[in-house]
Amino acid sequence: MIKILGISGSPRRGATDHSVRQALEAAASVPGVETRFISLAGKTIKPCVQCDYCRRNKKLCRIKDDMAGFYESILWADAYIIGSPVYNMTISGPLQTFFNRWRPLHHVYKGVLDGRVGGAIAVGGSRNGGQELTASALVHMFLSRGMVVVGGGGFDCYGGAYVVSHDRLAKGAQEDEIGMDSVRRLGLRVAQLAAWIKAGRGDEPVVVPEPPPSEPEDGRVAP
Ligand SMILES: Cc1cc2nc3c(=O)[nH]c(=O)nc-3n(C[C@H](O)[C@H](O)[C@H](O)COP(=O)(O)O)c2cc1C
Repeated sequence: MIKILGISGSPRRGATDHSVRQALEAAASVPGVETRFISLAGKTIKPCVQCDYCRRNKKLCRIKDDMAGFYESILWADAYIIGSPVYNMTISGPLQTFFNRWRPLHHVYKGVLDGRVGGAIAVGGSRNGGQELTASALVHMFLSRGMVVVGGGGFDCYGGAYVVSHDRLAKGAQEDEIGMDSVRRLGLRVAQLAAWIKAGRGDEPVVVPEPPPSEPEDGRVAP
């Protein structure tokens, strides 16, 4: 199976949520693809404070919040389709905080994200509101983790899928025909590239993380 995780980085269930789900639906039309979806809406994810607990102890983050429940899905996936609303011409604050909390993955399972596939979706209220910059921030996040980036395969979505919602939630996104077309093409391309890479690599066992410890082991109080 090719496992694709869709992530919506909006703090609400709206246009980004809808766009990521559309991309996942397209990806799931490829035989052998299995998908999961997570939304940051309603989740509490505290910022990384670089306490280095993960680096020193080779354990997942000790901060107690909703992030603990996401690590298993992040590790499960072969590929990611990540959508962000455009906030001030870049990704949302919650999504940036979420990415910062991926740091333990590197320290606990070194190289675990190498060669995994990433596709970016940026959803702005305005037609030219910063979608390319937002997708670029996502692409650079993928690159910083050693991942392989895929765009939509050309026309209208070189660096990812760009959607305009006119601030009208899922309905607004759905009415952007070009945006929805690029979202679906991105979903298919992510599935295709992930399948090629997996065929070349073979089916490696899934790495399952240990649950984070309930208390820090060096006597300090968890942040
Ligand atoms: C704090 C904030 C900043 C925003 N900045 C931009 C922006 O720079 N460019 C833009 O096109 N839309 C901007 N928007 C509008 C959102 O990107 C747009 O409504 C988007 O569709 C929201 O996605 P959602 O429905 O998934 O939450 C901003 C919205 C908020 C709340």
